[in-house]
Amino acid sequence: MTTSDLLAGVPRDFLAPRQVLVGDGAVAGTGSALAGWSVPTGAVGVIADVTVAENGIAETLLQSLETAGYAPQLFALAAGEPTVTAAQQALDFLRAADTVAVVGIGGGSAMDVAKIAALAAAGDKSIRDLLGINPEAAPGLPLVLVPTTTGTGAEVTRISMLADDRGRKVICSHPLLVPLVTVLDPYLVVGLPPAVTAATGMDAMAHAVEAFLSRNRSPLSAQASLLAIRLLREWLPRAVQNGHDMDARRATLYGAHQAGLALNAGVVLGHSLAYTIANRKHLPHGVTCAIALPYCLAYNAGSELSGATELALTITQGRSEDLDDAAAELRQLAEDLGLPTSLAEIGIGAGEAQGMARECVELYPRPSNPRPFTLDALTDLVTAMATGKLPGAEVTQTVGSNDRGRVSA
Ligand SMILES: NC(=O)c1ccc[n+]([C@@H]2O[C@H](COP(=O)([O-])OP(=O)(O)OC[C@H]3O[C@@H](n4cnc5c(N)ncnc54)[C@H](O)[C@@H]3O)[C@@H](O)[C@H]2O)c1
Ligand SMILES: [Fe+2]
Repeated sequence: MTTSDLLAGVPRDFLAPRQVLVGDGAVAGTGSALAGWSVPTGAVGVIADVTVAENGIAETLLQSLETAGYAPQLFALAAGEPTVTAAQQALDFLRAADTVAVVGIGGGSAMDVAKIAALAAAGDKSIRDLLGINPEAAPGLPLVLVPTTTGTGAEVTRISMLADDRGRKVICSHPLLVPLVTVLDPYLVVGLPPAVTAATGMDAMAHAVEAFLSRNRSPLSAQASLLAIRLLREWLPRAVQNGHDMDARRATLYGAHQAGLALNAGVVLGHSLAYTIANRKHLPHGVTCAIALPYCLAYNAGSELSGATELALTITQGRSEDLDDAAAELRQLAEDLGLPTSLAEIGIGAGEAQGMARECVELYPRPSNPRPFTLDALTDLVTAMATGKLPGAEVTQTVGSNDRGRVSA
């Protein structure tokens, strides 16, 4: 892709935090960063994942706020899916404590609650009032987001995702949800268990690849995608194998962050497929994304896509210019990380294929997907997912087994 290719096309917006603190121990600078943005001293609401709160992972953050003259007020978010009710409780907590700013520390769950609660806290709206796309909202409290997983990119996006009373996902999408400050501190992710590292890392990989495929891609999102794919492809296996490998933790944290920036272009078919899996099996989001991603790439492999060669080369680490090979490589990566790679492995049979395809078309359509969704083509694709046989599978065997070198560059 040339610079001129990148800049051609429909204008796109690109949102990002105003300040990003990056590096080992960066979280110690949180308090002074808030002071640097002229946030007056007072109570700061700290919305923390319960595991993070209980394992002392938020200690340096709390000390940093105190040192800068703030009074941190900790709200530990219960384990499990973040719900509208939990977010309302967090909001009530912030209002009762009369907070001047909010810090969210944890994975996507804690950050999403912190985001929407901070947006509501400066006014008199409830969480429910703020659900939807671009709801009417005034600027919220200054917001800092500190990821402790290496996946969602929620520390940069304009989205907060919650579950309603019936367990369905509802979202608030608003530019005001992009934080003032993001902190990327690899020390905070050292204790992330291998299975969570693998699943959240493949969620990040899915964001990066799908955002690159998206028709809403921009020059900035494309660059973020490619950097994220490069980092995650190289370092995610090492982060899963040895959580104390600091090079791997740094690279995957930064890779997931770049993938979050790439999300300015949105996701495509892979996340639609992942939601249809989640509707049938209660699995971590990253696991469903990991199963779906190779099929998303294979479905789009034949479509007109500028930069397809660069995408394939980045995924295959220079081994192939072919997106079918890249799809096979992503499936192999998931397998290497110990994740399932077919629907059969998670107990979903081919009999579900047409229903899942219909859900993609009717519930999760993606006009930004390069190849249009059609019921027949998606039914075939999901049928293939059931057995784990990728379309274009002759090359799959080559890339996926011991003979990686045979795929032409
Ligand atoms: N806002 C967005 O743009 C966006 C994007 C994608 C996904 N999401 C949402 O993010 C949520 C998933 O987030 P996630 O994948 O980060 O998982 P998560 O926040 O649910 O955390 C996963 C698990 O890891 C634990 N954990 C977190 N940090 C840890 C650490 N440092 N050490 C040990 N354990 C730790 C948590 O307690 C939890 O059990 C979903 O609700 C999803 O809808 C949001
Ligand atoms: Fe995702």
